[in-house]
Amino acid sequence: MNELWYKDAIFYQVYVRAFYDSDGDGHGDLRGLTQKLDYLQELGVDCLWLMPIYPSPLRDDGYDIADYYNIHSDYGNLDDFKALLEAVHARGLRLIMDLVLNHTSNEHPWFQSARADRNSPYRGYYVWSDSDRKYLDARIIFIDIEPSNWTWDPLAGQYYWHRFYASQPDLNYDNPAVQEEMLNVMKFWLDLGVDGFRADAVPYLFEREGTICENLPETHTYLKKLRASMDEHYPGRILLCEANQWPEDVRAYFGDGDEFHMGFHFPIMPRIFMDIKKERANDMRDIMRLTPSIPENCQWCIFLRNHDELTLEMVTPEERQWMWKKYAPEPRMRLNRGIRRRLTPLLDNDRKKMELIHSLLFTLPGSPIIYYGDEIGMGENIWLPDRNGVRTPMQWNAGNNAGFSEAPAQSLYAPIIDNQAYGPLKINAESQERDPQSLWNTIRRMIARRKQHQTFGWGDLKWLDCQNEHIAAFSRTYQGKSVSILHNLSASGQTAKLDNIKKTLMRDILSEKAFEVRDEKLVLKLRPHEYLWLE
Ligand code: BGC
Repeated sequence: MNELWYKDAIFYQVYVRAFYDSDGDGHGDLRGLTQKLDYLQELGVDCLWLMPIYPSPLRDDGYDIADYYNIHSDYGNLDDFKALLEAVHARGLRLIMDLVLNHTSNEHPWFQSARADRNSPYRGYYVWSDSDRKYLDARIIFIDIEPSNWTWDPLAGQYYWHRFYASQPDLNYDNPAVQEEMLNVMKFWLDLGVDGFRADAVPYLFEREGTICENLPETHTYLKKLRASMDEHYPGRILLCEANQWPEDVRAYFGDGDEFHMGFHFPIMPRIFMDIKKERANDMRDIMRLTPSIPENCQWCIFLRNHDELTLEMVTPEERQWMWKKYAPEPRMRLNRGIRRRLTPLLDNDRKKMELIHSLLFTLPGSPIIYYGDEIGMGENIWLPDRNGVRTPMQWNAGNNAGFSEAPAQSLYAPIIDNQAYGPLKINAESQERDPQSLWNTIRRMIARRKQHQTFGWGDLKWLDCQNEHIAAFSRTYQGKSVSILHNLSASGQTAKLDNIKKTLMRDILSEKAFEVRDEKLVLKLRPHEYLWLE
């Protein structure tokens, strides 16, 4: 077994409720997802990440868990989950789930017991205080909604601590019973055969006065325990870290290769959008220079969009204003410190920019993850509450309910996108699978090419000087083999000049086109938003 499979894998993020409804109740479900695995395999996906599917009152779309050992009835049951996993593995694919360690739902029986009785064994599962003046240096994450990280519970007669919604009380990791309990949760799903977890919101597990209550040493110690248990009993499974932090802080979550296998690279994401808008490669380059190297058995996970707002935590206040102005001109598009929009509308539904940004996704260091629907260019509905506007039903075909569900339209969990540019008549998977020139097929081909070159998953990154600031030029090198990648970020034609090339020919591995090198120099004319992967 290849235990380092995640170094070369293509990940795909699935919101099960949005994917495919097998029983006509208006909600996507596990059986529905099982029926759509061919589609994902065709695209070239290797590993699915399923957003939370546990029982939950859904005040934060399942990130508020009421039972860690079961499946939400909207999605099916444990047998459906086992059948999905079996079908995934039968295809040689893998599946990771969300592991929400930091908090539970306030409807979790632990919290209900804890608040009702000071002597409950679960009282100490949560963080209580008589005063709401503790840990004041900790920032509030959902600043649009929550005035404080403390909420008064009249039944408990105390305040409880929560980093997210008040309906998500934080677990108390100073309690060994909590540490043990969450280790058991992890083992339960690993025993069922899942290939690992995307660990949600890990910076916030512990609280200490006088700190910002993020990335504390105690947190790393506990996470290393989870990892050690995984290594001992479940080799080949992975932990993917969600820490919306600067590269040097995320670096700590890799430890010495003994904490997380993977970590999302949050700061590169907004900089890709910044550079495409500015038509210059500076910001991506700067952040990659600030990105420390990571142990050989670790891997970054690169994403363009996900189920949350496009977060602008990892930019300066000036850059945030600039991003809002450029990418969220209507106030409704802004949410918390981010933008509640989908990839394609952010890029003005411009096919060339869509390809360019995917080329960056597939060639920057790390394993790429695709957010469901972005491979066909789905749109958004900013008028839905919270982040729901980027969680609308997958558009499978031009038929009823976009082929997502047979329920009456008014019973769907969310309306299908219905505007002219992004409705299912215009955007759907079926027609794109048939059309060799579609975005879906272009992405499928990029993935297939990427898989032929280990350098994308393993290689070093070096920025190249091509004497043109409009072009992002870098090489990826592994075991003496190198690919030089050029992205013309500008909407006009540009010339790239590369020196010191000890070859006579360079070939674009995407188009198979060859370019002649003269006197160790290569001069290339790139069309607007053109990208080349030169070998
Ligand atoms: C998830 C969010 C969620 C939050 C609280 C995250 O960072 O991505 O969707 O609201 O954690 O669980």
